[in-house]
Amino acid sequence: MGMRRWGYQVDLYNIKKKRQLDLGGYDLIGIGSPVYYYGPPFILTDYIKSLPDLGGLPTFTFVLHGTYPFDTGKFIRQVLASKGARDIGYFHCYGADYYLGFLKEGYLFSPNHPNSAELSSAEDFGSQLVERFAGKPYSLTEEDQPPPLIYRLERFLLNRWLTEIFWSRFFKVDKQSCTMCGLCKKICPCINIGQDEDGYPVWGCDCLLCLSCQLKCPQDAVITPISWPLVRPFMIYNVHRASKDPSIEHVRVKHSKGRTRVLGPK
Ligand SMILES: Cc1cc2nc3c(=O)[nH]c(=O)nc-3n(C[C@H](O)[C@H](O)[C@H](O)COP(=O)(O)O)c2cc1C
Ligand code: SF4
Ligand code: SF4
Repeated sequence: MGMRRWGYQVDLYNIKKKRQLDLGGYDLIGIGSPVYYYGPPFILTDYIKSLPDLGGLPTFTFVLHGTYPFDTGKFIRQVLASKGARDIGYFHCYGADYYLGFLKEGYLFSPNHPNSAELSSAEDFGSQLVERFAGKPYSLTEEDQPPPLIYRLERFLLNRWLTEIFWSRFFKVDKQSCTMCGLCKKICPCINIGQDEDGYPVWGCDCLLCLSCQLKCPQDAVITPISWPLVRPFMIYNVHRASKDPSIEHVRVKHSKGRTRVLGPK
């Protein structure tokens, strides 16, 4: 919006696995990312790492986070810099946190975000980018901090390698409840869900751990390891810490059959 106001053409792309984007002809590239497990989703990391040499092309980064982003933005900017990009801006703000691990604990963090103030700041950010693109000097004043140990442990536990060789193997369907509606397959951003010979969903190993398949299933028929005793203590710690943090809004919710129902403010 902020850039379009100045007459620039802005094209938006949704990065989906196995889809290459041709960046030829663009004067400025922005990478927008949610935070997943205190870092960018694997799909985004793959994409930026696969970029060719950017030869000084200006880039900017924006990040949406439900609780704590830590150094997600810094990581993206570092990879872009390693590709020869010229960093001209970094913006981050809260976004509604439909992470199933938290919803199952009865908490929705950052509901109704980005709010109007954040959207207006984002628009201003767009205008600043136009000025910096035209040559106005820019340097980042405040740097992202790395996560404290407990979050780093969680990030490690849910890393790509363990997801591929371990966690993804435990995704399955409850055939008693599944109606074979196909929704999980349709929404998977990694094209990781196929069908068995009877039409039931089957999962591969190319998973982001976004949990959208489980979150949206209208029958609660998707079974994943997200509530296992190995993972749940992290959820409980995170929910406890974020719910006591006055800078993070939350509401109490009940999530079932693909719907999140708000119960009350606290
Ligand atoms: C699987 C998953 C993991 C998440 N992990 C984090 C996290 O580590 N830190 C955080 O601040 N937000 C986390 N979030 C929240 C999202 O980053 C946040 O809600 C963001 O606004 C989502 O953007 P989107 O609605 O454009 O997908 C997570 C969300 C999901 C679904
Ligand atoms: S979304 Fe649920 S009900 Fe629909 S196919 Fe997937 S598992 Fe079955
Ligand atoms: S959690 Fe489900 S929807 Fe998300 S990438 Fe893995 S299989 Fe696909």
